[in-house]
Amino acid sequence: MTTYNVALNFEDGVTRVIQCDDDEKVTDAAFRQKINLPMDCRDGVCGTCKCFAEKGEYELEFYMDESMSDEEAEQGYVLTCQMIPESDCVLRVPASSSVCKTAPESVEGAVQGVDRLSETSFGLRVKLARPIAFLPGQYVNVAVPGTGVHRSYSFSSAPGSDEATFLIRNLPGGVMSSYLAERAKPCDTVTLTGPMGAFYLRPIERAQLWLAGGTGLAPFLSMLEQVAEQGSDHPIVLYYAVTRAADLVELDRVEDLAERIGNVTVITILAAEEEAHERKGFVTDHLGAEDLKGGDCDVYLCGPPPMVDAVRAHFGKLGVEPASFHYEKFNPTEAEVAAA
Ligand SMILES: Cc1cc2nc3c(=O)[nH]c(=O)nc-3n(C[C@H](O)[C@H](O)[C@H](O)COP(=O)(O)OP(=O)(O)OC[C@H]3O[C@@H](n4cnc5c(N)ncnc54)[C@H](O)[C@@H]3O)c2cc1C
Ligand code: FES
Repeated sequence: MTTYNVALNFEDGVTRVIQCDDDEKVTDAAFRQKINLPMDCRDGVCGTCKCFAEKGEYELEFYMDESMSDEEAEQGYVLTCQMIPESDCVLRVPASSSVCKTAPESVEGAVQGVDRLSETSFGLRVKLARPIAFLPGQYVNVAVPGTGVHRSYSFSSAPGSDEATFLIRNLPGGVMSSYLAERAKPCDTVTLTGPMGAFYLRPIERAQLWLAGGTGLAPFLSMLEQVAEQGSDHPIVLYYAVTRAADLVELDRVEDLAERIGNVTVITILAAEEEAHERKGFVTDHLGAEDLKGGDCDVYLCGPPPMVDAVRAHFGKLGVEPASFHYEKFNPTEAEVAAA
């Protein structure tokens, strides 16, 4: 058996070298050596473990287009849960070293309330046994009471509190949606496992372009809460795109936070033809090269997979590469993908 050295370059400048056997996947080797690379499904489905391979040869086992496009694979992106090195490698990990040493933990919470925000979304409030140390933008896996399955949700609340909130799309008949619509009651126990994900707010050093589709607003609410606490010297433009006016939930909260921060512009877009609104269509209809400020901006994008894919393709056509680009797709869970 051959063992290769895999250097992990974390976002905060820390580098760790792990040993990976020639039949071992990188996330498993890292875990064995007490480094928790961002990871969720371990099946090449969710894309959470995506890193960039700066050097080295490797094999990628199974992965779905949803988690990584062929174009990304050609550019050198890898899913570390599917990556088996065939030489020494150097990987750029889109997370800080401190995040990667924090094992996901399970914390119990009690449902405080479910708010029917609109036909298409719920607000879920949970009182945690203790705060979860997450970064704004990250998500947890929430076990759906009485079902034995979990669903992933981004925090819409600020870190550091023992009261967590979530913004959840209503998919009639869905496992979580049915629980929230029909059975949830105060004091139900829910188990949250996390935090997870590499979609989180980095230090703000330039203009910010934030793009939210539907309940993809959730992580931006958490990020705005943090910026409201810490302040920002740079402008933030938040596009919030939904289907109908009634789906523009939590807009008052967004506008309050924007006012507290100052220098935040909130732009809403409605897709439904019958709606009267100053901006109609999709977010891609309203974003031009000038919005990317010649590349001197950080882009954060979160929402349903088709929206995320459309924006990424649109940016490719505009031909301007932002200084950094972070995105999160609200993919269905693995079991749902398998059944589709
Ligand atoms: C990292 C991550 C973070 C997420 N954060 C959030 C969040 O903050 N808020 C939120 O609302 N959702 C979020 N999601 C999506 C969420 O985990 C669930 O997939 C969604 O809430 C549906 O759960 P359900 O149990 O109600 O429906 P399910 O029982 O999972 O599905 C019911 C039906 O709807 C279909 N379906 C499921 N998801 C989608 C989808 N996204 N688009 C179209 N059809 C779908 C299924 O294929 C199935 O036919 C996130 C997903 C990921 C991977
Ligand atoms: S953890 Fe690798 S794709 Fe989900």
